Amino acid sequence: MNGSTDIRRTQVAIIGGGPAGLLLGQLLERGGVDTVIIERRSREYVLSRIRAGVLEAGTVGLLREAGAGERMDREGFEHEGTYLAVANRGFRIDFKRLTGGSVTVYGQTELTRDLYEARDASGRPVLHEVEQVRIHDADSASPWIGFNYQGRQQRLDCDYIAGCDGFHGVSRGSIPAELLREFERVYPFGWLGILSPTPPVSDELIYASHERGFALCSMRNPRLSRYYLQVPLQDSVEQWSDRAFWDELRRRIPHAAAESLVTGESIEKSIAPLRSYVAEPMRWGRLFLCGDAAHIVPPTGAKGLNLAASDVYYLSRALLQHYRENDDHGIETYSETALARVWKAERFSWYMTRLLHRFPEQSEFDLRMQEAELNYLESSAAAQTALAENYIGLPF
Ligand code: FAD
Ligand code: DHB
Repeated sequence: MNGSTDIRRTQVAIIGGGPAGLLLGQLLERGGVDTVIIERRSREYVLSRIRAGVLEAGTVGLLREAGAGERMDREGFEHEGTYLAVANRGFRIDFKRLTGGSVTVYGQTELTRDLYEARDASGRPVLHEVEQVRIHDADSASPWIGFNYQGRQQRLDCDYIAGCDGFHGVSRGSIPAELLREFERVYPFGWLGILSPTPPVSDELIYASHERGFALCSMRNPRLSRYYLQVPLQDSVEQWSDRAFWDELRRRIPHAAAESLVTGESIEKSIAPLRSYVAEPMRWGRLFLCGDAAHIVPPTGAKGLNLAASDVYYLSRALLQHYRENDDHGIETYSETALARVWKAERFSWYMTRLLHRFPEQSEFDLRMQEAELNYLESSAAAQTALAENYIGLPF
């Protein structure tokens, strides 16, 4: 069915074949609702993007429900805690003891691959490399999408449109400007990330605050590590040789970790800017925004992908309620319900970013506040519980 050009009508048209669009597609298909996914890029391109790595239990549950959890259950790693380090000192936040919960380390690339395979098995289409996507009549009872596919202009009629097309998609911009409110904070630094075919330096992630800037030691599996450094926004990947990266990472993490760090040639290197952003509302008529199309978090709390999954949870429930029970309550309250959780994850990601990074404009007072906050965290079970509860993911 992939590649077919005579698709003219579906129940839910999904714009974007990233994690949000694919997960929504699978949950709806399994609930008996017909979907068509259109994606601007090729499948290979989507699968080559190295992004998030930490899944909340709610995200894990949704992947299983979507019929795409088998490999994750086999190959993912449960993490019951994480380390916070300040210069050469470190302490552990024990998620399991404090909250009873944990997270799963499993790469976004793998998760996306599993969702594409589940989609293939369902026989429903993903149209790749579509161009000039335009949303029409979203505030009417008969919305449709126009786009160019394989050189031909197409029209896809539908009941609903799910805008899962990421931060740079077309969906959000289709909501009239006078109805859309945007909230934004841009941070004055980025994250330089590398993927390295070497064993991770630690059994759990290390979030490191250091006077030279933040560093994060993460992983994908026992032979594949993911590391990040806070860098000035104007830095480019070309400025950072592998050697410079490893030297800088060693300086920012505790000595014991630095000494046992195994280095190698990086297999991916990229810089991502940091931003907090929310668009309200997340529904306009029959158009819903879902995932990065509606909001961005700085990556410090590992929330971006998980937030996309919780939007999908609310939206899939709302649409299934409509088709199965002829009840539109979930549709009418989608924006409000999703945004309540989005803002809490925004708060946590902003808090973690502020806690662990060096800001160019920081005063001595600000630095002392950061230090006091970290000392408080180290000594207080209550503070650690609040961090752990947010990190493992607030309930849907
Ligand atoms: P996306 O993954 O962006 O998917 C949207 C899809 O829509 C894309 O495939 C895009 O090609 C497609 N699309 C766009 N426009 C159109 C159009 N007009 N028509 C059709 N299709 C379109 N989160 C973390 O938690 N940890 C991280 O380390 C982390 N690192 C990141 C690094 C980068 C560089 C970026 C950009 C994000 C990162 N994130 C991270 C965030 C996380 O990856 C996202 O929150 C997650 O991908 C959101 O999924 P999504 O499906 O909403 O959006
Ligand atoms: C990863 C990314 C994050 O932003 C984070 O907080 C934890 C892990 C990762 O890519 O592994």
